[in-house]
Amino acid sequence: MTQPASLWCGGVGEQLRAAGPPQDWLCTAEQERLARVSSPRRREQFIAGRWLARQTLVASHGGSPADWELSATPDAPPRVTSGPIICARTIGLTHSGNTVACVISDHPLGIDVERHDRRKLDVARLAEVVLSGAERVFWLDLPTDMRDSGFLGWWTLKEAWLKAQGRTLNPATLRGIEALPSDRAEANARLWREDDFTLALVGLDAAAPLDVARPMPRCQTQWWTVRERRSSSPGS
Ligand SMILES: CC(C)(COP(=O)(O)OP(=O)(O)OC[C@H]1O[C@@H](n2cnc3c(N)ncnc32)[C@H](O)[C@@H]1OP(=O)(O)O)[C@@H](O)C(=O)NCCC(=O)NCCS
Repeated sequence: MTQPASLWCGGVGEQLRAAGPPQDWLCTAEQERLARVSSPRRREQFIAGRWLARQTLVASHGGSPADWELSATPDAPPRVTSGPIICARTIGLTHSGNTVACVISDHPLGIDVERHDRRKLDVARLAEVVLSGAERVFWLDLPTDMRDSGFLGWWTLKEAWLKAQGRTLNPATLRGIEALPSDRAEANARLWREDDFTLALVGLDAAAPLDVARPMPRCQTQWWTVRERRSSSPGS
């Protein structure tokens, strides 16, 4: 039987404090990858994500954090390479600012989080490049003071769709994907909006389970459909 996805979300700082010295539990592949990361912020996010993934695996499948070894190929999702049990579940990781989230599931799921205060974006310009005509109608319907955070809904849904397939991101690709609000019965995506971040979870089809074993209680949740568009000609 398919298990619900396990979704964990937390602060980078709190994960680092709980994790202790990373050399005690990161596997060799991850330590080698970490050694190549020079940005202190990115190092913290990497360690926090890998710790959160282990917390999720330990809670779902047992063992201790050091028992689980994960791959660490750049620009690819992590997978379990060794652990107390054979585990082929998909792992999705995302971080933005001080927020980190992890999902573990039986179906391919993509996850993406964006902080609302991350940087001052030229949202009007980005919306022209990234949103389809139908998406822009919904976006322009938002009150002006909600357009910046509203735009991040589309951005995270599209990025999570790409990550569910192990694809990478570029603006032209984003425009070829369409995300629209949906009934729960038809949805293949969920969006959570907190005061300071937006988090998207996307499956490749409506059969992908979006129930999560550890929901985020303070967040509003919305249901969406995300799919590849047939035509992405300008203006459409
Ligand atoms: C993969 C990508 C979509 C991740 O987006 P991001 O907003 O930078 O980062 P997120 O925090 O949401 O996700 C990063 C995590 O996703 C996972 N990941 C990396 N590449 C992935 C992929 N292709 N598919 C699924 N998951 C991926 C990793 O676990 C990574 O964290 P880790 O390296 O600490 O383990 C993006 O970095 C990308 O496309 N990179 C390659 C091309 C590129 O750099 N383009 C420039 C942007 S225009």
